[in-house]
Amino acid sequence: MRNLLTLLSLCVAVCSAYPLDGAARDKDDSMDLVQQYLENYYNLAKDVKQFFRRKDSGPVVEKIREMQKFLGLEMTGKLDSDTLEMMHKPRCGVPDVGDFSTFLGSPKWRKTHLTYRIVNYTLDLPRDAVDSAIEKALTVWEKVTPLSFSRIYEGEADIMIIFAVREHGDFFAFDGPGKALAHAYPPGPGIDGDAHFDDDEQWTKDTSGVNLFLVAAHELGHSLGLQHSTDPEALMYPVYNPLTDLTRFHLSQDDVNGIQSLYGPPQASPDDPVVPTEPVPPEPGTPAACDPALSFDAISTLRGEILFFKGRHFWRKSFRTPELEFHLISSFWPSLPSGIDAAYEVVSKDSVFIFKGNQFWAIRGNEVQAGYPRGIHTLGFPSTIRKIDAAFSDKEKKKTYFFVEDKYWRFDEKRRSMEPDFPKQIEEDFPGVYPEVDAVFESFGFYYFFNGSSQLEFDPNAKKVTHVFKSNSWLNC
Ligand SMILES: *[C@@H]1O[C@H](CO)[C@@H](O)[C@H](O)[C@H]1NC(C)=O
Ligand SMILES: *[C@@H]1O[C@H](CO)[C@@H](O)[C@H](O)[C@H]1NC(C)=O
Ligand SMILES: [Zn+2]
Ligand SMILES: [Zn+2]
Repeated sequence: MRNLLTLLSLCVAVCSAYPLDGAARDKDDSMDLVQQYLENYYNLAKDVKQFFRRKDSGPVVEKIREMQKFLGLEMTGKLDSDTLEMMHKPRCGVPDVGDFSTFLGSPKWRKTHLTYRIVNYTLDLPRDAVDSAIEKALTVWEKVTPLSFSRIYEGEADIMIIFAVREHGDFFAFDGPGKALAHAYPPGPGIDGDAHFDDDEQWTKDTSGVNLFLVAAHELGHSLGLQHSTDPEALMYPVYNPLTDLTRFHLSQDDVNGIQSLYGPPQASPDDPVVPTEPVPPEPGTPAACDPALSFDAISTLRGEILFFKGRHFWRKSFRTPELEFHLISSFWPSLPSGIDAAYEVVSKDSVFIFKGNQFWAIRGNEVQAGYPRGIHTLGFPSTIRKIDAAFSDKEKKKTYFFVEDKYWRFDEKRRSMEPDFPKQIEEDFPGVYPEVDAVFESFGFYYFFNGSSQLEFDPNAKKVTHVFKSNSWLNC
């Protein structure tokens, strides 16, 4: 009570900008919250009395300024309405600054293959929804690092995942609904690396409650050694952002820089014990993944992996394992042609469509479906079109984009028909993209366009090219 009172008198000193309209109970709650917030996340000494004996409330004002700076608010040192509003937002339970001792010394995993275990579940979601949210969250980090993860079902994993309420066996009790949503420990043995989710939250697949995938992706960032970022665009920003468009979710450059500063980019490192499986004997005409002039015929996703087609072969990239596989197309799908033109996956149909000349095939896993090949004109192309250069399907919007020379068509997968008003010029809607495209695919909300040995990353939200890479940048070169 003493602490609360002193904070209330502090408020008179520092929160003149806060409209404390009436209700004393709200005021009490707010001051409790302020005290706890600064103690929990900004390392305000638990015994604040000492600070208030002085005329100025310097240390607390400093903590408020520190918090404002970290979270990108105006540094008034006062509990103004923006500051209080920020303190009321749900967030991660890991502190933003100060002596969170376990984060000293930038711990990181000394191995690239990690195990995880989902020890128990929330009742808010079916188990498979929890499993897939966690798996998807791990993939976010796998994609930009040499790390890979495998799940175990008993014993001690590097990353133990639990749902719990209030006191749950560590020094950081959860706090009921809202406020702290989860916390996680940086890399190391025992509790380190583990991620704890507050089961007093309403966990959801969408953003109607607290989205489990978003929070898990953030917490697993801690499990891998990242601390909070001050960049409001970053996944590692401490405050939960319920407005995130899940269909467009991607890591910010800040997150990527952070994790790559610990582990480097997704390349096979020399001390990586994993060797490529069944090396294909070189023969005339066999493409080399790391040839800087390498280009692709077509690229498609397939059940979370990416297939890069070239001549009679394809590379198969999985984010679950660091090694890259290289196969003959005919060893998977004997009836498919080589030298294909375009390929895309329709996730909702669990099918990949393969185009060559005026024909296309549908495959599911390693089966070519009955009734194929069909003519491309059955999709609604005019008879003047003899081949497709590249294609991809936007799984959220259920639209497929076909690129032919400098134009593109869009196909509505729900209505199974070509949309009116097409073709359009590629440069009109994809400014900066090559007027001709060899291959294209979508990954984590970005579109990757390939021409010859170069590749453009296109952000459809910003409608601009955000990166230029070598075409073979995905092939561990
Ligand atoms: C999950 O396990 C943790 C640690 O053993 C425990 O504290 C927690 O209550 C469990 N949660 C549920 C939902 O059973
Ligand atoms: C596409 O790649 C080819 C071969 O590398 C190159 O000659 C051509 O200029 C490229 N086109 C564009 C628009 O960059
Ligand atoms: Zn956090
Ligand atoms: Zn905990």
